[in-house]
Amino acid sequence: MERADKKKILFVCLGNICRSPAAEEIMRRQVEAAGRSDEFLLDSAGLIDYHQGEEADARMRAHAARRGYHITHLSRPVCYEDFFSFDLIVGMDDRNISRLRDLAPGLEEERKVVRMTDYCRIKVADHVPDPYYGGASGFENVLDILEDACAGLLERCCPAS
Ligand code: 4NP
Repeated sequence: MERADKKKILFVCLGNICRSPAAEEIMRRQVEAAGRSDEFLLDSAGLIDYHQGEEADARMRAHAARRGYHITHLSRPVCYEDFFSFDLIVGMDDRNISRLRDLAPGLEEERKVVRMTDYCRIKVADHVPDPYYGGASGFENVLDILEDACAGLLERCCPAS
C-alpha cells in the first residue's frame, strides 16, 4: 500500500536535463539500496521550459550509465503546485536557489528550498556546476558531487526511523 507519510523531494536545476535528473536517479538508487523506496517520492524539474518533454542530455545519460544509473526522466518546468506537493526542493546552484525562493508562494514554501551541496560529506563544493557547455570531466564531477550529497541528504534529512 502507498504510504501517506512519504518524504517528497524535488531536485531542481536550470534545464532539468543534466544535474537534477541525475540527482533524482542517484537518490532513487541510494534509497533502493537502503530498502526504503516506499518512504520516498522523488522527482526533478527545471527553471526553464526550453527542454520540456525531452530526455536527459545524452552526455549525462552516458556518463551516468557507466556508473549503473539509467536516467529515464523527461524534462519539465517547476510549477506553482510543486511548492505545496513537495517537502524539500533541492537547488543545485545560487541562481537556482534564488529563483526558487522568488517563485515560492509564501514563507513556509520558501523554507523548503535547500542547497544540494549543503549535504556533501566528502566533496568540497558550494554548488553543483552546470556541465552543459563543458566537457566529460564536468559530467563526472557532477556525478561525484551528487553521489556524495545524496548520501548526506538521506542520512541527515531522512534518517531511518
Ligand atoms: P542543467 O543543465 O541545468 O543541469 O539541466 C543545463 C541544460 C540546458 C541549459 C542550461 C543548463 N540550456 O541553457 O539549455
